[in-house]
Amino acid sequence: MNVCGKRILVGITGSIAAYKSITLVRLLVKAGAEVKVVMTPAAAEFASPLVLATLSKHPVLLSLATGADWANHVALGRWAHAMVIAPASANSVAKMATGLCDNLLLAVYLSATCPVMICPAMDEDMWLHPSTQANLLRLKGFGNKVLDVETGELASGLFGPGRMAEPEEILSALNELLAKRAILAGKKALVTAGPTYEPIDPVRFIGNHSSGKMGIEIAAALAAAGADVTLVLGPVDLQPPVGVQVIKVTTAQEMYDAAMACFPHCQLTVMAAAVADYRPAVVAAEKIKKATNVSGEDMLTINLVRNPDILKACGQMKQDHQLLVGFALETNNEEENALKKLQEKNADFMVLNSLRDADSGFGTDTNQVTIYSKHLPAQRWPLQQKKALAGQLVEMLALHLPNVAID
Ligand code: C5P
Repeated sequence: MNVCGKRILVGITGSIAAYKSITLVRLLVKAGAEVKVVMTPAAAEFASPLVLATLSKHPVLLSLATGADWANHVALGRWAHAMVIAPASANSVAKMATGLCDNLLLAVYLSATCPVMICPAMDEDMWLHPSTQANLLRLKGFGNKVLDVETGELASGLFGPGRMAEPEEILSALNELLAKRAILAGKKALVTAGPTYEPIDPVRFIGNHSSGKMGIEIAAALAAAGADVTLVLGPVDLQPPVGVQVIKVTTAQEMYDAAMACFPHCQLTVMAAAVADYRPAVVAAEKIKKATNVSGEDMLTINLVRNPDILKACGQMKQDHQLLVGFALETNNEEENALKKLQEKNADFMVLNSLRDADSGFGTDTNQVTIYSKHLPAQRWPLQQKKALAGQLVEMLALHLPNVAID
């Protein structure tokens, strides 16, 4: 996969090397990318916004507010398949490393959910300064790709490291970055996420504390890896990821129906939803009132019936070309329960998280999991951000995807 047909955000900061970004934008457009340019105020001193707007065929974005208009940095950050910051000055690198956002470019960087490539450009002494090197290391730690500077003649007249990579090299590094992300190109994936709500009467329901965060991150990671993703999402407040087809459901039965329709077409299915095992046998047509029962007790009994087990149903239908992953959230006998579910539901992998582990489970941004599979020893992964965990999980699943042709 390369930049052709991709939405690329080019960020330009204040450096003499900004003149090379004009060529970069031209190369990207020629290669079939849709390009938007965002500049820091200092960058506009080095490269003409008029030229960049003409070449990119989009207005150049310079500030958070233009007159009464507000540039939506979140939308921009989510619009792009990749963001490349070229040139990245020592000043902007330092701000990005510390999360400062006193201009539009930095706000977009903080909002970007896509892969980010940083192409530094600065004088030798600034490049070699330990603070710059520490900042770049920090940015690499965030998962950003940092393109090495070249050694040669610098704007100061000195000779040394600090020259921005050539536009052709930036383009091929971007192609590589996108190709690496496309390990699941052409594959269809299904994810279930969030809780289910089982109505008792028109105003009440039985639900659970699932936030949907883990499943949403998995759907985003699958999409970032190039898969065609359908997310069957229970009632949650979170925004589903862009580039994913979302089917919103409320009850387990609705989740079952949506998943059943989708599952046969998917090579990879991850069920991260916290599905209610039971639902009220009868949903009262009117709001249930307080009342004493025939024995004179102030008690209410709600009869529950079993919901369909979606994972189990998928396990029964599973064919050789399909990989099926379940989640097990346990409070006790964790390993025993996870292995039992792996077997009973005919899943290929079971991802266990325990409510006994701090910072894991419902609503948190982090999770600690153990991965069980029929053929491999259990793997306990470290506590990490759900986003990072989703990326690691998708990479592992891609390696185990059965290599069987589908009709
Ligand atoms: O509820 P339980 O612990 O059995 O959930 C384990 C796995 O089964 C999870 O992946 C969950 O999404 C799935 N599940 C399901 N349908 C149910 C119950 C659970 O798909 N009715």
